[in-house]
Amino acid sequence: MNSPKVVVEGLCKVFGTNPKQAVAMLAGGATKEEVFSRTGQIVGVHNVSFEVKEGEIFVLMGLSGSGKSTLIRLINRLVEPTAGKVLIDGRDVASVPRSELTALRRKDMSMVFQSFALMPQRTVLANAAFGLEVAGVGRKEREKRAMTVLEQVGLAPFSEKLPAQLSGGMQQRVGLARALAVNPSLMIMDEAFSALDPLKRKEMQNVLLDLQREQQRTILFVSHDLEEAMRIGTRIAIMEGGRVVQIGTPREIITNPADDYVRAFFEGIDTSRYLTAGDLMQTDAVPLMQHSPAIDASSVAATLNGSADYAFVLDSERKIRGFVCRDALGSASPQLNQIECIRRSTPLDDVVERVVASRAPLPVVEVDGSYCGSVNKTNVLNVLTRHRGSHV
Ligand SMILES: Nc1ncnc2c1ncn2[C@@H]1O[C@H](COP(=O)(O)OP(=O)(O)OP(=O)(O)O)[C@@H](O)[C@H]1O
Ligand SMILES: [Mg+2]
Repeated sequence: MNSPKVVVEGLCKVFGTNPKQAVAMLAGGATKEEVFSRTGQIVGVHNVSFEVKEGEIFVLMGLSGSGKSTLIRLINRLVEPTAGKVLIDGRDVASVPRSELTALRRKDMSMVFQSFALMPQRTVLANAAFGLEVAGVGRKEREKRAMTVLEQVGLAPFSEKLPAQLSGGMQQRVGLARALAVNPSLMIMDEAFSALDPLKRKEMQNVLLDLQREQQRTILFVSHDLEEAMRIGTRIAIMEGGRVVQIGTPREIITNPADDYVRAFFEGIDTSRYLTAGDLMQTDAVPLMQHSPAIDASSVAATLNGSADYAFVLDSERKIRGFVCRDALGSASPQLNQIECIRRSTPLDDVVERVVASRAPLPVVEVDGSYCGSVNKTNVLNVLTRHRGSHV
């Protein structure tokens, strides 16, 4: 599971007659625009390094012209790098003889593009089986396998139809089925869903996510849409002007965007949905005190220290036993109140509901139940205004 499927190291691609000069300028800190205005060379990709793990959906995201397609073409070697290398399953793609490249692309790197050239005179089944046909798989076997993937993408009843009898979204699913049928170890999808309307697009994302749950494939997915990237990406690499400016899980990118370019993608998107209790908790807002059989008022007073209204009571394993509050200070042995804990991974919407219903801040705990922080109404309001408002 964890060995890298794809390793990209210091990959550069400059389009033009003097790429080395451009690479030197880039190394000195010049931007893609500066290189172009001074030399006329076009930077496609500059100094990109990352690893795609087996079984993950790795999304490349960035504005038009940021280098996503070029990067993908470097990986399947439709484009020769100016510098750097690409390893697939540990094998340097540059060392693959030309004669083997076609087979490598066909078998190990299936591509799905935005617009699919389905063959209009062939049935859906024959289109879905096309990749297998090219690979020399016999008719019976390829039709059986194509039918299986048509079932997976929900098109089995349409197998004998012609592409023109299907809607655009269904045609796109035929394209996906064709790529899946060859059962590639790496699927490369370049803006595969971008031409679809929002509903169809979401439907295709669900098809892909369902397939992924059944059988984990390694997928390199290009998108310029942050919501799509967030929904399907295990990790996302954000590209700007040929460089990768940030790599992280959807949550890491939302909670800690590298710069304003990354933040600009958030505009108009409710990023709070991707947050969890762990993202908004505070670690030092509520004082803690050690549990003992008889809690006395003076130790509560000392813990609250004049300013806090609540303190959590922990046992020696840092598990929550309850909380005490300022109101109880009048009594000689203040009451230990029961409190519900929230798991660190609880999604924001559940957190909001529970924090709103509670007068005290709520303790956040790790999977093993040990205390890690607290959330209160203010934390929730802050995160909601920050993430549901405008970002630029
Ligand atoms: N064959 C080529 N010759 C010259 N320049 C190229 C070539 N292919 C790509 N480029 C340039 O490389 C840069 C990156 O292009 P690329 O197609 O990789 O961007 P992209 O991120 O895929 O954009 P989009 O979202 O529009 O598909 C652009 O400036 C583009 O003009
Ligand atoms: Mg592109």
